[in-house]
Order: sequence, then C-alpha cells, then structure tokens
Amino acid sequence: MTAVKIGLIGYGTVGSAVERTIRSHQENLQTIFGKEVQVAGVLVRNKQKYTQQVTDTLLTEEAAELFAIENLDVIIEASVGIEPAFRYLTEAIHRGCHIITANKELIASRGAELKQLAKEKGVRLEYEAAVAGGVPVIGTLKQLLHINRVVKVEAILNGTSNFILTEMADKGFVFEDALRLAQEAGFAEADPANDVDGWDAFYKLMVLSDLLFEAQPDWEKVRRRGIRSVSAEDIQAAAEQGWKIKHVATLENAEGEVTATVEPVVLSAAHPLYSVDGVDNAVCIEGDLVGKLKLQGPGAGALPTASAIVEDLANLVHQRKEINVKREIRFTEKSGTVPFVHLPTGETVYLHADHVESDGRYYRIAARTPAKAEA
Ligand SMILES: NC(=O)c1ccc[n+]([C@@H]2O[C@H](COP(=O)([O-])OP(=O)(O)OC[C@H]3O[C@@H](n4cnc5c(N)ncnc54)[C@H](OP(=O)(O)O)[C@@H]3O)[C@@H](O)[C@H]2O)c1
Repeated sequence: MTAVKIGLIGYGTVGSAVERTIRSHQENLQTIFGKEVQVAGVLVRNKQKYTQQVTDTLLTEEAAELFAIENLDVIIEASVGIEPAFRYLTEAIHRGCHIITANKELIASRGAELKQLAKEKGVRLEYEAAVAGGVPVIGTLKQLLHINRVVKVEAILNGTSNFILTEMADKGFVFEDALRLAQEAGFAEADPANDVDGWDAFYKLMVLSDLLFEAQPDWEKVRRRGIRSVSAEDIQAAAEQGWKIKHVATLENAEGEVTATVEPVVLSAAHPLYSVDGVDNAVCIEGDLVGKLKLQGPGAGALPTASAIVEDLANLVHQRKEINVKREIRFTEKSGTVPFVHLPTGETVYLHADHVESDGRYYRIAARTPAKAEA
C-alpha cells in the first residue's frame, strides 16, 4: 500500500511546523487515511539553509524535481507572496494534486482563479490557515453558509498589531517600544510593514469576502489604515472613557454591495472584540438566522497554523478525487446474522467481508448482496 504523498513548498516557521506535526501525529493521520502520510519532498528558494533540518526526504530548489515525485497526492504551500506560488499551485492542480495553502496574499489576489481551476480538475483547495491561523474561521463559515446569510463580519485579524496595542494600553508604551517588544518576542517580523500597516489584515479580509460573497470590494476603495499613527495619548484618552483602541477589519454586505474597512477604532466594553487582547485573533460573524457568533484564538504562530493545515489535510478524506484511502466501515445495523450498512452512495448492502476498501466516498466491497434482494 503506497503512502499519501505530500509535496511541501516552504520550510520556514509554518512549513517546518507542518512537517513536524505530520510526524508527531502520524498515528492519527494513519487512522484517518489508512496508510502512512509522508512528506515526499520539500521545495525552498535556498536549500543550503535547510540541509541540517531536512535530512530524510527530497530537498530541492527546483519545482520540476518536486513535481517529478511519482503519485504526489497533496501540495502544502507555506511560502510567501503571489509568485511563483500561483504558478506552482496551478501546475499542481493540473497534475491532479489537492492543495492546502497558508498564503493569504495569494488567496486574496488569485484565490478565485485557483478555486475555479481546482473545481474543473476535481481537486480540493483548502486555506484554513490563511485567515486567523489556528482559529477555524473558514470551516465554520463554510458550514454557516448553507442557509444563513452573513450580513456583517468584524474581526481582529492581525496578532502583531493586537499585541502592540495591548502592550501600549497595559504598560503605557509608545508604538516603537511595543513594536520592539513584539519583535523580541518573535511576534513581529524584522520588516513589520505587512502587519502594522494593515496589509495582512486586509488580505485576510479579502479572503473572507470571497468566501462569503463570492466577490471582493474594489481594493482601491477599501479604507486601509495600520496602527503606526496610534499614539500613547490616543490610547490613554480612550482608556479614561473605559474604551480601547483595536485594529478592526470590517466587512458588510448591504443590498448586494460589499464594503470593507481595516483601521484602528475605539471600542466600548460592550463590543465583543473589546476583550480580545495580546496576539489573539477574533472574528465576529453576524448571520441573519444564527445572530452573532464570535470565534477567538491564536491567530498565528508555528503550531496553531500547522494545526489548521493538518486539519485541512485530514479533511481531504472527504474529497471527491480518489486518494486511495482504506477505511473500516462500522456496521450500522444488524439483520439476522448478516450485517448491513448504508453506503454514502445511497445503497444499502449486506456485507460479506470484514473490511472494505474506500476512496473516501465510494466503498469497494469484496462481496456484497443488495439489501433489496434479501428483503
Ligand atoms: N507565521 C505565521 O504565524 C503564519 C500564520 C498564518 C499564515 N502564514 C502564512 O504562511 C506562509 C509562510 O509563512 P512563514 O511564517 O512560514 O514564512 P517564512 O518563515 O518566511 O518561510 C517562508 C518559506 O518559504 C520559502 N520560499 C519563499 N519563496 C520561495 C520560493 N519562491 N520558492 C520556494 N520556496 C520559497 C522560504 O525558503 P527560503 O528560506 O529558501 O527563501 C521559506 O522556507 C506565508 O504565506 C504566511 O503569510 C504564516
């Protein structure tokens, strides 16, 4: 039985954590897939940086070498920027691979094209990690979307900005000192522009807009402001009123028109985002039926992000394209001495085998008798 073969693009904070998680949770993954789940190759820009870490699988700078791996099932993409990631994922989809990506800039910019192509080719494109790291926002919204109409989303989507604003409020730091602390704690990049100028939150909001409304507002018309201009005095003045300044991304759909803003706003204690402090992210969703929901948790970091990716991986078991999964079927009912089971195809069959082969949707049964014939 061959393994589920994964090609990993990027081996930084996220990519390396994904590989470690696949190793540490191999037993769970094997239970789900019925076979070993293996990182069969790692693609990076500069492989010299990774020769100590990647020792027992292919490490390459050449995409062609990754794609030459026989029977590659899944590409997990944890690199940065739109290109060459878009080109790599397009090729992977054409080759019949399922895609899992953490790359919010790519999904915000070219996600619609990738989704369409994946649909045409019968493969899955998953991107839970691209929005709010470990918080299962995408999965929850997909569940909610069947009947509910989402009218509004308000969210704290950038952990670095939230950490800086929290430190400024709690300890009276100025922006520059709080930023330095975030960098020392590993919460902010050496170049923090993406986070503190609001780009990171903006990309995540556009991903949500695509998912919820199958449309994005004109990027030029989105009011996007970061937190550089928030002063210690602003925060102090807000605190005197019992308020907090938070960096909030808002999406609204009023009569078919989608509008978005990403900016620092003043919140009173009554607002559900008021209590979201530190590096946490939170997403408040208002559905016309369910009312207001709030999801909160670690929005970044190696393990929470790897968690979202590996959960996406486990969910591929429910995919349409064959990944050759072998699964035990639990007998749901008994009829005399012969067990029978309701298949996902709608059929009911009696089983004459103690296990069946499954590709995730259809079950190949060694010997079976249609239930009707026996009834
Ligand atoms: N860090 C988080 O907490 C977090 C959370 C959610 C989502 N994300 C997203 O996850 C992705 C990865 O983030 P990260 O923090 O892991 O970044 P990172 O630490 O900078 O790692 C990026 C990795 O991508 C590789 N890479 C860059 N350009 C490449 C190219 N052209 N071809 C092949 N490999 C390339 C890099 O290889 P070289 O070192 O050889 O250049 C490196 O291994 C980003 O899209 C980010 O937005 C990150």
